[in-house]
Order: sequence, then structure tokens, then C-alpha cells
Amino acid sequence: MTETYRVTVEPLGREVECRSDQTILDACLRNGIWLPHSCTHGTCATCKVEVLDGDVDHGASTSFALMDFERDEGKTLPCCAIPRSDIVIEADIDVDESLEVFPVADYTGTVVSIEDVATDTKRVVIETDRDVRFNAGQYMRIVVPPRAGETRRYAVDRTYSMANPPTETRRLEFQIRRVAGGAATDGWIFAGAGDGSSSESGERAPSRSGTRLPSRDPMAASCCAPARTSRSS
Ligand code: FES
Repeated sequence: MTETYRVTVEPLGREVECRSDQTILDACLRNGIWLPHSCTHGTCATCKVEVLDGDVDHGASTSFALMDFERDEGKTLPCCAIPRSDIVIEADIDVDESLEVFPVADYTGTVVSIEDVATDTKRVVIETDRDVRFNAGQYMRIVVPPRAGETRRYAVDRTYSMANPPTETRRLEFQIRRVAGGAATDGWIFAGAGDGSSSESGERAPSRSGTRLPSRDPMAASCCAPARTSRSS
């Protein structure tokens, strides 16, 4: 059964609720508390915090980003850690007070255009189901749609920075460079949508890059906007 625990974030003295299947970082970001973070999968150590009280499961934290002696000292990586009780953490939070923090939220988006802008780089425009408020320098985590007939046990997601200004809240632009063999690039964005071949779904892809995709195009993406201040970019 999924339980909910209280996470108190010091030195802010703020409390958020966190499910027992949710990372501490996710709970904080979704409640408008920005914690330093970068990789979000336990390898960079940017998010490291101290657990002052309570128990956590370190999840997929890597042994080099969170060493054994640090675990013994009560450190954890909130991007991977989930609470096992009510907890109190202390984070090194240094946010520009004048900057508005937008809580993480989930959106559904539809790819409306893909065009080449440079060798192995495409400009992808995604229209979201509602306004996305963000600061310059923020990014989206985009869930890569499965290919036709593909079943996945785990979601595949990638993060890309918005290339459009925050005043454009419904059409988000991303400039995405191809990664050879990449699930999001070779497996999706560069897999026929802009080169005249059929998309994986069997839908007719545009014959030229930059052509508007039909709104029923299956390449829809669920997105979230992790808060990121200019300090963390
Ligand atoms: S954000 Fe990189 S280890 Fe947590």
C-alpha cells in the first residue's frame, strides 16, 4: 500500500507530503520548493542533502555519488531517495529570492513541427494541453512515446531546455541534437518524422521537415517542468 509521509525541508521550515513511491525531490518540486539538482538519477551528487531525522530508502543512488560513509553520516540523494517515515532534511538552498518558482506539473503535448536547423539538429515544436509557466533556463522532461507495438516496463524520458521565451506558454520549442542510437533521437525524433518516411505508428509523416504534423499524430509527449533557477543551469 502506498503511504504518505511528511518531509520537512530545512532551513526553509516548509513541509510537503511525499508518497512512499515518490522521490523526495519530486515531491518538493511539485510543491514549489526548489532543491539543487541536475542529473535526477543519482549520479552527479548535486542534490545531496542531510537527513536530520527519519528514515529513507536511497533507491538507485550510485555508490560513487553517495558513498557508504556518507550514507552512514545521514546523507542522501533526494532525486532517488524515497521516505520510509516522516523525515527532516537539510538542503543547501540558494535561490534568487526575486525569481518565481513554478511547481513541477505534468502536461500532454503534441508535436506540431519538426525541422532541420543544423547537421544532426532538429527544431521540435510541441503544443501543450495548457499553459506552461517557466523561467528562462528551465527545461522539460519529455516522456518518449513507445513505438507502435512496443510495450515498456519503464517510461523512457529525456530532458531538453526550452528554446522559446517564457512569454510563449503553449508552444514550446526545443533544439535537439541527435545522439547515435538514442531512444529519443534515433528512436523517435529522427526516425522518419522529418525525412519523408513513415512514422512508427503508420501515420504518414510529413514529406519535408518543417511540415506541420496532424494534430492526431501519435507522437504526443507527457512533460513536466522541473524548476531550475539560473544558478543551476
Ligand atoms: S540530481 Fe544528480 S544525483 Fe541527484
